[in-house]
Amino acid sequence: MNKSSQMEPVIIVLFGASGDLSARKVIPALYNLHLDGLLPQQYAIVGVARSSLTEETLRERFRQGVDQYSRRGPAKEQEWDAFAEHLHYIQSNYDEPTLYDRLTKLGDTGWETPPNIVFYLATPPNLFTIVIDQLGRFSELQGDIRYRIVIEKPFGHDLHSAKALNQRLLQVFEEKQIYRIDHYLGKETVQNILAFRFGNAMWEPVWNRNFIDHVQITVSEKIGIGRRGQYYDSAGALRDMIQNHLMQLLCLIAMEAPTEFTADQIRNKKVDVMHAIRAINKADVPAFAVRGQYGQGWMDGQPVQAYRCEKDVDINSNTETFAALKLFVDNWRWQGVPFYLRTGKCMPGRVSEISLQFRPVPHHPFAHLNTQVFQPNRLVLQIEPNEGVVLRTQAKEPGMGMKLKPVDMSYCYQDVFHQASPDAYETLLVDIMRNDPGLFMRADQVEAAWSVIDPILEVWSENTELNFPNYQAGQWGPPEAESLVAQDRRTWL
Ligand code: NDP
Ligand code: BG6
Repeated sequence: MNKSSQMEPVIIVLFGASGDLSARKVIPALYNLHLDGLLPQQYAIVGVARSSLTEETLRERFRQGVDQYSRRGPAKEQEWDAFAEHLHYIQSNYDEPTLYDRLTKLGDTGWETPPNIVFYLATPPNLFTIVIDQLGRFSELQGDIRYRIVIEKPFGHDLHSAKALNQRLLQVFEEKQIYRIDHYLGKETVQNILAFRFGNAMWEPVWNRNFIDHVQITVSEKIGIGRRGQYYDSAGALRDMIQNHLMQLLCLIAMEAPTEFTADQIRNKKVDVMHAIRAINKADVPAFAVRGQYGQGWMDGQPVQAYRCEKDVDINSNTETFAALKLFVDNWRWQGVPFYLRTGKCMPGRVSEISLQFRPVPHHPFAHLNTQVFQPNRLVLQIEPNEGVVLRTQAKEPGMGMKLKPVDMSYCYQDVFHQASPDAYETLLVDIMRNDPGLFMRADQVEAAWSVIDPILEVWSENTELNFPNYQAGQWGPPEAESLVAQDRRTWL
């Protein structure tokens, strides 16, 4: 039996089908799943949007998305045609009741096994509740696992709005039907964190405050905000990246071992971490959180305009394009170990990585020989772009005498696994179809993450007398980001 015949038929209703995410991520991912035989034999993708498109023009738009963004490169004619047969389009306003009468009848296909229906909200967040309200007219959806709903980020604007959205969602669906996306969780290297930590016996004894000095989580991007000015200017780096992606990375590093690899066990352990994160008092925010906004600068020898001059951005915007935090996880394992997080746009390099800096050796017998080599051990989990793991150790440099030199022991995905990794969206879409919510955010996880950053958002919104822009495009954020770690006698690694 091939893989696709084992899967239940599915109809994916893609709201916001005319948009950027659909063409750039969702459709290329579905196309690759189609090529890999990971879609069921019977499936349909029904795009919904207001734009006046025909099925033909929608398919053409999706094809361009695949050609440009698929990890496999441009589609081949015959393969594309076979996929395109499954693509359909409904033009409608999102608040049009008759649309939903139609959508909720999509299951009447006459297929031998009735399909599961996945409502995928790839729309701007202000449309989420409009769609949910309309679906709420059909009480038969609630609790029926054949119906699932996928919510893109951002999930709320703060704790209050996230709670309200959860409340509304849970009036229409049950938690088991809800898939809140954080695409970082679908990345191979992010999933590997649990395999690395809990599939190897050697880490657990040193994975704690006794051996680890501090942890750094960096997600720096070279890209700016592209065409997403309207969204980004109301969000900023803290909401866009830290509340979700970086907090999830922190949880994976800090969580306790689950007894079983099940969705709820893992999510429970992550929530425990978030509840253990020390609340930042509003008065302490300046000592624990840094924000920045890029001004004009240079990247790769090209001039880059200031954030405030980007399309759809307020010319006096106080939105941060860089954020750095210092957090503590108050439990037995991590007491006193700072977790430094930073992320930003228009930075000198694209790096997503987690560094665990170990404590120095307790006594150095080589002290009199060479003082500059005393770099403590460091373990770096490289999420992107050079997927792999690096362990920095000290070695004797060949030659007479005893001279130490830092050397890296590393493995690189490309060299070890001779197969292409699926894109995060491919993994997530398969999990949605298989009804496995482990890589998605549960209601309490989202709310716990907002609880951590809400006080910072509040203080930042109150204090608008800023010296923005305070770093140039192409730099590693404002000088205060250096001070955040320097005040603890540390540096960014
Ligand atoms: P778009 O701005 O491209 O919007 C998607 C579609 O929604 C548009 O094509 C448009 O379709 C419709 N739409 C947009 N604005 C309105 C409006 N004011 N009223 C009614 N309809 C509107 O969004 P993206 O595709 O970029 O993002 C979709 C979702 O995915 C968002 O929640 C976003 O935060 C999230 N996301 C996006 C990422 C990205 O890289 N793009 C990355 C991660 C998450 P039409 O006019 O035809 O109805
Ligand atoms: C998205 C953010 O969630 O993640 C974007 O909204 C950001 O601003 C993107 O660019 C980064 O994702 P990745 O997978 O490219 O690291």
